[in-house]
Amino acid sequence: MEILHTAATLQAYTETCRRAGQRIALVPTMGALHEGHLQLVRAAATACDVVIVSVFVNPTQFNNAEDFRLYPRLPEEDAALLEPAGCTVLFLPTVETMYPQPAVLHFDFGPLERVMEGAHRPGHFNGVATVVSKLFHLSRPHQAYFGQKDWQQVAVVRQLVADLSFDLELVSFPTVREADGLAMSSRNRRLSAAARAVAPRLHEALERAAQLVRQGTQSPAEVQQAAVEHIAAEPAFQLEYFEVADAHTLQPLAEWQPNRPVVLCLAAYLDGVRLIDNVVVK
Ligand code: PAJ
Repeated sequence: MEILHTAATLQAYTETCRRAGQRIALVPTMGALHEGHLQLVRAAATACDVVIVSVFVNPTQFNNAEDFRLYPRLPEEDAALLEPAGCTVLFLPTVETMYPQPAVLHFDFGPLERVMEGAHRPGHFNGVATVVSKLFHLSRPHQAYFGQKDWQQVAVVRQLVADLSFDLELVSFPTVREADGLAMSSRNRRLSAAARAVAPRLHEALERAAQLVRQGTQSPAEVQQAAVEHIAAEPAFQLEYFEVADAHTLQPLAEWQPNRPVVLCLAAYLDGVRLIDNVVVK
């Protein structure tokens, strides 16, 4: 596995791979890698000859300076996990490499980002779209891997790929969970033992809500209400939102739409740590 730090070395590397007719996969991450990330890497390694994993805690997507400061950074551990998972190139840029000058261009994803993460984290998807565009240009992948754990991020990146004609296939990978249902996340490391013990309630609330959707509960509002109550029964949570939305447009549902998949999405603080999760009901 090669470790590259600069834009120029990554561009030169991918240029050589392209000339040799190799297929390139990109897995963008912010590091503190866990099994969820590694499954993306393994999937990429089965489909492509070259797997580039970027590890970069992207400052422009954090709307909270404290969250950026506390975000776990473990480059040595990450490197040790990546090689056996099939990573060919670890791209570990500095902030100066990714942002030689502050980005001025702004992305606006319209209704897609007026809800949920976009609504609660102003500027977040602008930062994601900026860094993902840069990574796409530097690595010129045939495939780019993203996790459904960040359902709205996948929708935004899909729009980005379509609107800017990026010549790549976006692969969206199912959420990887702990045995008790908690969605794997780099932020889980920051949970105390007591908080970790109650954390699976979030997934439990999503599964119960999904069951209500499947049973044809009268309205989306009723499903939302039941989930909010289930989470509120554990006072350690501060729920930011629980949305019952159209899985493609991400717009909240006032009533059920025939033959449209539904996504249930939440964000909650636990122990000062912000967790997100979702479940899709087909
Ligand atoms: P990060 O949170 O590190 O996640 C990197 C990728 O791993 C994302 O596509 C995310 O959806 C996926 N992922 C995280 N946890 C997962 C899980 N439990 N199961 C499946 N996939 C999971 O998302 C980001 O970084 C950043 O926004 C990034 C795209 C790298 C841009 O900076």
